[in-house]
Amino acid sequence: MGAGGGVRRRARRRGRTVRGGLRLHRAPVGGTEGPRSRGNRRHAGRRRHVRRARPGGPAGADAARTADRRHLRVPARRRAGGVAADRVRRGRDGGPRDRGRHRRGGRRVRRPRGRETAEGTVRSERRPVVIDAPEPLAGRVAVVTGGADGIGLATAERLAAAGATLVLVDVDPALPDIATTLADRHARAVLPITADVADDTAMADGFARVDAEFGRVDVLVNNAGIMTPHLVPVHEVALPDFDAMLRVHLRGAFVCARLAVPLMRRGAFGRIVNLTSVLGTLGLPGRSAYAVAKTGVIGLTRSLAVEGGRYGITANAVLPGWILTGRLRARLAAGTLDHDRYAERTPVGRWGDPADVARMITFLALPASGFLTGGVFPVDGGYCVRGDADEDIGPVHDRQEVG
Ligand SMILES: NC(=O)c1ccc[n+]([C@@H]2O[C@H](COP(=O)([O-])OP(=O)(O)OC[C@H]3O[C@@H](n4cnc5c(N)ncnc54)[C@H](O)[C@@H]3O)[C@@H](O)[C@H]2O)c1
Repeated sequence: MGAGGGVRRRARRRGRTVRGGLRLHRAPVGGTEGPRSRGNRRHAGRRRHVRRARPGGPAGADAARTADRRHLRVPARRRAGGVAADRVRRGRDGGPRDRGRHRRGGRRVRRPRGRETAEGTVRSERRPVVIDAPEPLAGRVAVVTGGADGIGLATAERLAAAGATLVLVDVDPALPDIATTLADRHARAVLPITADVADDTAMADGFARVDAEFGRVDVLVNNAGIMTPHLVPVHEVALPDFDAMLRVHLRGAFVCARLAVPLMRRGAFGRIVNLTSVLGTLGLPGRSAYAVAKTGVIGLTRSLAVEGGRYGITANAVLPGWILTGRLRARLAAGTLDHDRYAERTPVGRWGDPADVARMITFLALPASGFLTGGVFPVDGGYCVRGDADEDIGPVHDRQEVG
């Protein structure tokens, strides 16, 4: 492929369309006439290579070729030391218009953008800031795996409260009842899919149902997981147990992500949140299979972030510390887990609540969180940053916390 092909591809990539209020980062396909796109116009003051087709000017492939030639001329004009003619744009009145910059006393200065008022320049006109809408996920569809219990159920509650339509995936046969309860409580559509996340056929059917019913997937929370109650050293781990651990956590998250991504790309928006663990970053004895799975989840997250970035899809991992879910409460009650030991080891001096994790997941799922991607966000009360667990950090004091 010659250099011209690369330039053309870039020119096409920069084409944008606006559909249904959402800005789509899509290339125009042939025959585009008039202004290339609103997105381009919006960025005309900032982006050097983004151009606006003039009415009556070249359209479609011709416009792209013209853009190519202009792009290629830029270095020569820079060498000539003048203001590049291709940077000069015609304003509505036919007069010359530059791209937001002009020269004063030989220095390039930024021309104020936005509306001039008595208070100064109002810039927010161009980019409305909407971060605290009452239901920021209204109209969005969120899939939560392992949504019948624990962190998944708490997350489903939060996402529904934020306005999302829910799809819950779980192997728990009580899932349909749980979905009905949630739907009643939040007055939202909640679709239960009773399936194993690692079963690609069942999950393909499930996502096809979601597509048929709602026509979109905006959020995927890969939360379904299993834990073994006993600690087993690597050399004693039965391989079927190892396989089972990887199957649910890693294959399950992978299967769901590969089904969700095409739907997210189609909608030009996506938020993927994968659940990892302190075992994804720290070595602890007797939990090797779980650690392998949770470390793999972080690798998947990074790949999804890089692949999705250009399509409006973010991917992040949330790293819970010790969280008091029903299952762990049962183990505490059975005496197979020491409550005080983990509370003491955690700098904030307590176990986490499923709602602590659900808040972080919901935050990452918001449309306004689009610049957060590829991250691993601990919700562990400081567990992972405490270096020396034997060093005394004192007693837990009375404090105020927002629940
Ligand atoms: N609770 C913690 O302290 C903690 C800490 C770190 C990480 N995590 C992770 O957070 C996630 C949720 O943990 P939790 O404590 O809420 O667990 P949980 O056991 O309370 O809930 C897990 C849910 O996943 C479902 N599930 C299990 N296997 C499934 C499968 N193959 N397909 C579909 N659904 C399946 C279960 O039925 C259950 O409803 C897990 O990935 C877990 O590894 C939890």
